[in-house]
Amino acid sequence: MEIKRISVIGAGQMGSGIAQTGAQAGLDVTLVDMAEAPLQKGLERIKGNLQRDVQKGKISVQEMEAVLGRIRPVLKLEEAAAEADLVIEAVVENMEVKADVFRKLDVLCPKHAILASNTSSLPITEIAAVTKRPEKVIGMHFMNPVPVMKLVEVIRGLQTADEVFAAVEQLAKRMGKVPVEVNDFPGFVSNRVLMPMINEAIYAVYEGVATPEAVDQVMKLGMNHPMGPLTLADFIGLDTCLYIMEILYEGFGDSKYRPCPLLRKYVKAGWLGRKSGRGFYTYE
Ligand code: CAA
Ligand code: NAD
Repeated sequence: MEIKRISVIGAGQMGSGIAQTGAQAGLDVTLVDMAEAPLQKGLERIKGNLQRDVQKGKISVQEMEAVLGRIRPVLKLEEAAAEADLVIEAVVENMEVKADVFRKLDVLCPKHAILASNTSSLPITEIAAVTKRPEKVIGMHFMNPVPVMKLVEVIRGLQTADEVFAAVEQLAKRMGKVPVEVNDFPGFVSNRVLMPMINEAIYAVYEGVATPEAVDQVMKLGMNHPMGPLTLADFIGLDTCLYIMEILYEGFGDSKYRPCPLLRKYVKAGWLGRKSGRGFYTYE
């Protein structure tokens, strides 16, 4: 199952990073978003990352141009789906939205195409069930920032075929990543472990135990985390953090996963972290 052409759905922080990393690995990439503004923003982010690599002497200007030349931006899902060997969906963390995208992809993509989701926590088996090719649906969970982080969690849905798993594992390696196999349970491994820690850090602020700065200092200097949990929550996006906590809470039915009310409040206020300019911290 050779994968030459991939399509990435959603040009947000994850989709743009996946598109960049795929193009740097020599793949032809089609990047789609639903509107011109987010598509352009995604392309600008990719250009910015590559220009930084040029300035650091890691790649030449010609290499940067070749990578950019392998990324085809489009606004229509039909165009992205038509010739793809593999599609990686990276739209918002919401089952209804993802199900709608997968239903359309199932109709539009070639029969051999693998449909992967970059979901942080939603059940792959449930996403697969809206298609007529559940054996070709799989989770391919990249970490943020994609060009830097080595891990790809590869999630087997209940019906994912072995050859599909093998093809995706191979592709992750080609993209310079280390694939780790996990089964399909809420939050998989990464967010089952990470997100309750972030949620607990938010509770510490909510209950007045310490300021966000103090909580982050404790975890950075005391536990050697590269970013404190609240800086990381702002970086991931507080809306995404809340979606993930809700999926853990609903999926396990255990009160230990209840999202902190302060997280809900910030998301309701539109304080989504770095991407909206304000979260636990403010950004330019
Ligand atoms: N995009 C691309 N490259 C980036 C980047 C970005 N947003 N941010 C930093 N980099 C690159 C820099 O260019 C630099 O590259 P070189 O080594 O080639 O110079 C390298 O990363 C290190 O950057 P800095 O020296 O500026 O900063 P740093 O040492 O603080 O590292 C970091 C930045 C890698 C982001 C680091 O802070 C880190 O590892 N943070 C934690 C990230 C993390 O936990 N990610 C997982 C989030 S959870 C998730 O993704 C799953 C989910 O479903 C929510
Ligand atoms: P984001 O908000 O930065 O980007 C989402 C993009 O999808 C936006 O540009 C939006 O316009 C686009 N979009 C929405 N609906 C669409 C549709 N129907 N068709 C085409 N484009 C559409 O979000 P993100 O942080 O990139 O997260 C995307 C996915 O990746 C989520 O499932 C998230 O859980 C997952 N994820 C996020 C992180 C993280 O740290 N942020 C890490 C790993 C996985």
